[in-house]
Amino acid sequence: ITTQVAIMGAGPAGLMLSHLLHQAGIDNTVVEIRSRAEISATIRAGILEAGSVDLLVQSGVDNVLRNGHEHEGTEFRVNGEGHRIDFKGLTGSSVWLYPQNDVFDDLAARREADGGDVRYSCSNTDVYDLLGKPSVFFTDSEGTDFELRAEILVGADGSRSYCRRQVPEASRKTYFNEYPFAWFGILTEAPRSSPELIYANSEHGFALISQRTDTVQRMYFQCDPSANPADWTDEQIWEQLRLRVNGNGFELKEGPVTDKVVLPFRSFVQAPMRHGNLFLAGDAAHTVPPTGAKGLNLALHDMRLLFESLDSYFKSGSTALIDTYSDRALDRVWKAQYFSYWMTTLLHTVPTETNHEFFRARQLGELRSLLESERGRAYIAECYTGWPTK
Ligand code: DHB
Repeated sequence: ITTQVAIMGAGPAGLMLSHLLHQAGIDNTVVEIRSRAEISATIRAGILEAGSVDLLVQSGVDNVLRNGHEHEGTEFRVNGEGHRIDFKGLTGSSVWLYPQNDVFDDLAARREADGGDVRYSCSNTDVYDLLGKPSVFFTDSEGTDFELRAEILVGADGSRSYCRRQVPEASRKTYFNEYPFAWFGILTEAPRSSPELIYANSEHGFALISQRTDTVQRMYFQCDPSANPADWTDEQIWEQLRLRVNGNGFELKEGPVTDKVVLPFRSFVQAPMRHGNLFLAGDAAHTVPPTGAKGLNLALHDMRLLFESLDSYFKSGSTALIDTYSDRALDRVWKAQYFSYWMTTLLHTVPTETNHEFFRARQLGELRSLLESERGRAYIAECYTGWPTK
């Protein structure tokens, strides 16, 4: 097979790029090792920045407008006391609750309807000639071997990216930070507990009350990274959530827990995000801890930049934009790394902190100084709803 752009990975990032390239008349093929059903069933992020919604809607993928929920603010709950951050009033912007699975399903359906070449369930994938004309070898779901030759290769193959490890060590720099806690994530069959998300800080640790539908809710609480989901009963889970969130007349609406998962906390960046004709994007190039809801939004923003860069290259032959893609993407990646790290330390208790009393009193002082200040709340709102594209 010969194509212009080979894309490794059919997650939301890879499919977004494939869809944008197709609309611009640029030929592309996507190679993915997982099945479509497996990706669709993987429970991931829930919050889209307004800019992510715009990218989808402007490209004609607009289910989010009918099935998503616009959130004009969020609540920070500190020791059971609520403080609203009014995104819309403070910045004019908002976010949308629309699960990553739905973003994937919408893009996958649209690629299928448009006759896109998306190969799910591939095996034996390998990539060659990153500095020249890249090629991808793979075996498709029917067991047939292929060589895919392309001019550009995009590594959108997720946090365990194979592509990024094909860049020689001397040509890449990696940054890594691990945190001494994790999130215990659940799905529960219960009505919404509140109209907006709740980010809760308490002496018992962090909790996040998010949503999925009228009858299914998503919640998280800070736990030990070695926690085993199977060891936790529903009652133990609700006990932790109640301790961290309930109070002052507010009570979570509880129900059966239908899914349990432990999510590790990591910050990772590989730079540059280009090596010859290989371009990295999304989790393949960077992961953030989930507290700031930035992972999926960064991936979609990478694809906005990468699409514009490749479009300009294929239409005019100019390398000006592809040459600056990595720097422009990393500008936002590091803002999001910083914000995700900061939201994490602002809201979590740190079990390895030896000076526990000082840490807690200082953290409460930090929260008061931010939440009592309109400019403090505006700063949180500005970062959370997303920075302008440069
Ligand atoms: C969700 C996940 C996040 O990491 C976050 O910050 C907000 C919401 C979610 O899964 O709904």
